[in-house]
Amino acid sequence: MTHIAVVVYFVSFILLLVTVVSRDVIRLPSEASKFFRTAENDDDPSIGTRWAVLVAGSSGYWNYRHQADICHAYQLLRQGGVKEENIVVFMYDDIAKNEENPRPGVIINSPHGEDVYNGVPKDYTGDDVNVDNLFAVLLGNKNALKGGSGKVVDSGPNDHIFIYYSDHGGPGVLGMPTSPYLYANDLNDVLKKKHASGTYKSLVFYLEACESGSIFEGLLAEGLNIYATTASNAEESSWGTYCPGEEPSPPSEYETCLGDLYSVAWMEDSDKHNLQTESLHQQYELVKKRTAGSGSFYGSHVMEFGDIELSKEKLVLYMGTNPANENFTFVNENSLRPHLRVTNQRDADLVHFWEKYRKAPEGSARKVEAQKQVLEAMSHRLHVDNSVQLIGKLLFGISEAPAVLNKVRPSGEPLVDDWDCLKTMVRAFEKHCGSLSQYGIKHMRSIANICNAGIKMKQMEEAAMQACPTIPAGPWSSLHRGFSA
Ligand SMILES: *[C@@H]1O[C@H](CO)[C@@H](O)[C@H](O)[C@H]1NC(C)=O
Repeated sequence: MTHIAVVVYFVSFILLLVTVVSRDVIRLPSEASKFFRTAENDDDPSIGTRWAVLVAGSSGYWNYRHQADICHAYQLLRQGGVKEENIVVFMYDDIAKNEENPRPGVIINSPHGEDVYNGVPKDYTGDDVNVDNLFAVLLGNKNALKGGSGKVVDSGPNDHIFIYYSDHGGPGVLGMPTSPYLYANDLNDVLKKKHASGTYKSLVFYLEACESGSIFEGLLAEGLNIYATTASNAEESSWGTYCPGEEPSPPSEYETCLGDLYSVAWMEDSDKHNLQTESLHQQYELVKKRTAGSGSFYGSHVMEFGDIELSKEKLVLYMGTNPANENFTFVNENSLRPHLRVTNQRDADLVHFWEKYRKAPEGSARKVEAQKQVLEAMSHRLHVDNSVQLIGKLLFGISEAPAVLNKVRPSGEPLVDDWDCLKTMVRAFEKHCGSLSQYGIKHMRSIANICNAGIKMKQMEEAAMQACPTIPAGPWSSLHRGFSA
């Protein structure tokens, strides 16, 4: 009894100290922070440091939700007690001050949500959000960084690492606001390297993207002490949520989706509960249920990969826990409101342009602009879809093409055996037909199947040249940012 009283007294004292000190914008001295950590983790002194890497892979106001997700995750971890110096944030940072943002300087992640933008560190923003910097950060390799705050995951053998990524994806690939995109084989290689360097005890990866299961399927080996969950399996879209016209709907002044279904499912769960009592597995089950929808026309299959037995661990190891939630222990059901309607990730940009068009006054410049944006996005989609199909027909013949392009390998097998082939084929496509872009990466499986069928580079070049005599103009087709592979 007395022991507990002393600890409680001391923790309150330290909290008071932190409040006073942080008001003066002075960092907590490391001695005090060490004590604080031991006091907090009384029952497990070997816990090590918690690290987190948060990545929003998109830019553009129509992708509001990905950066909103990442900001929310940052606030959640900070409330859990994870230190700012141990959280690395990648976000393009073009949302809060975007001219389309109805609340300048504010980002929300749910209809009644508070601002999640305030205080989020600008570690890697703009063009510094790129694959090379992400890998350098994960590997703790300061020398390889270009730009940014210089913060890296400088972890040790007892540490726990949490990685959360939210964006568009396609089979075998994750988007980035810059070129190239993030390919599954490269990401898994970096995770292997991190493991080989002996600089973590265990690592948890939460991944939101379309076809996100394909990032780990047949690629993430067991025995690396990594547990990953993904928003969808290898063959389906993931879903945006809190979109205009949905239930629940964002405040009426928002013409964009505020969050993603899997992402808000885990975060709204973590926001509420005492994470000392909730395990990764319990959260997985709950998120799976919520993300599956109600057996209706939307929803995706949340998957788990890697060392599944790690999911016995409590969330507190990775996210800390908010002291205010100490009495909210985990209950084995969704206390959260189900989402009645959600939007396919790939249509969320159209939802934005359409809302903009619908609400703009008749005859205004804004209406004309929005109409142009809808048409450009639509014609880009048609162009990419048609080009891929035509290339398939040129390579495999009219009747065989659909079967070859759409073939899905058995579960447990990676998308493609030769990733260099996939990347070369993507470049050949983009050279002649224009950028795949965030929409076009849905065709990554078809391009992978072109490799799996043993097509040679020269054949692909010729087919792409024939299929696309010119690259159509327009922002979606442009290659000014470089190839996506
Ligand atoms: C949790 O419950 C205990 C016992 O009722 C109470 O003393 C404590 O203040 C509560 N904690 C919080 C954060 O509300």
